[in-house]
Amino acid sequence: MSTALRTTTQTPSAAAATDAVTTRGLVEITKVRKSFGAAEVLKGITLTVEPGGVAVIVGPSGSGKSTLLRTINHLEKVDAGFIAIDGTLVGYAVRGRRLHELREKEILKQRTEIGMVFQNFNLFPHLTALENVTEAPIVAPRAGKPRLSKAEARDRGLELLDRVGLKDRAGAYPRQLSGGQQQRVAIARALALDPKILLFDEPTSALDPELVNEVLDVIRGLAKSGTTLIIVTHEMGFARDVADTVVFMDQGQIVEQGTPQEIFTNPREVRTRSFFSKVIEPAFNI
Ligand SMILES: Nc1ncnc2c1ncn2[C@@H]1O[C@H](COP(=O)(O)OP(=O)(O)OP(=O)(O)O)[C@@H](O)[C@H]1O
Ligand SMILES: [Mg+2]
Repeated sequence: MSTALRTTTQTPSAAAATDAVTTRGLVEITKVRKSFGAAEVLKGITLTVEPGGVAVIVGPSGSGKSTLLRTINHLEKVDAGFIAIDGTLVGYAVRGRRLHELREKEILKQRTEIGMVFQNFNLFPHLTALENVTEAPIVAPRAGKPRLSKAEARDRGLELLDRVGLKDRAGAYPRQLSGGQQQRVAIARALALDPKILLFDEPTSALDPELVNEVLDVIRGLAKSGTTLIIVTHEMGFARDVADTVVFMDQGQIVEQGTPQEIFTNPREVRTRSFFSKVIEPAFNI
């Protein structure tokens, strides 16, 4: 309990003086369990992602990857165990010796620290690229930060669209953008609240093959920026490239985790070997 509940002793100025980017975004997942009806889909997941770390989660369909991601921002409530970000519990507060679920408003506030990018972009169709990006900073109070004025949000939105290579398409509506461009807008939107952590659930699997790389390149850039990233993907070449840690899940459990070298080249477990022998060879032999 002491790890999960410890509070940050570092003052903001001390953090800024050292390396603000890599001192935030510690994710600690401890013995997390989750069932849907009779089916237990997370069977005691324990995983730590260091600040600024890049964890890539791979595994067969139905192994619980999306469910695990969704527990990290409390879109899915856990049945047991807990998740902490920088020592603060996600979705719960401790009162006395008991955990109490936070109120909706507090949960929403916590979620501003955790950006999520989905397979299907989920942009607002009636808003331009820029409006999609600026919506959150104007509407949602960022944890510990003042709400931005419209002009400030616009400047920040353009800066973020520039970062994903889309400043010149700021006025375009989602229907006027390619899938790859829409996904890059979604990434800019996720960055708008300056999250500690970014979660990606198969960010390229809805894209035509020729558009995959433009999105992966943006994520590669983020991986170097010091934001903690947790990425579910089937792009094994990309995973090998970008991950500090590769996590292999099967049937609601982490079967093994390690560096890309350890997991892809020299997996210890039979289940891991068997999975990669099916998915990896074709991708790497092209
Ligand atoms: N809301 C839900 N209600 C009931 N069952 C669910 C729900 N969400 C997920 N499941 C089940 O939980 C299991 C894990 O699903 P999950 O989506 O986490 O798998 P996944 O590893 O992301 O798979 P994929 O690679 O196909 O996206 C599956 O058997 C799924 O059918
Ligand atoms: Mg999934």
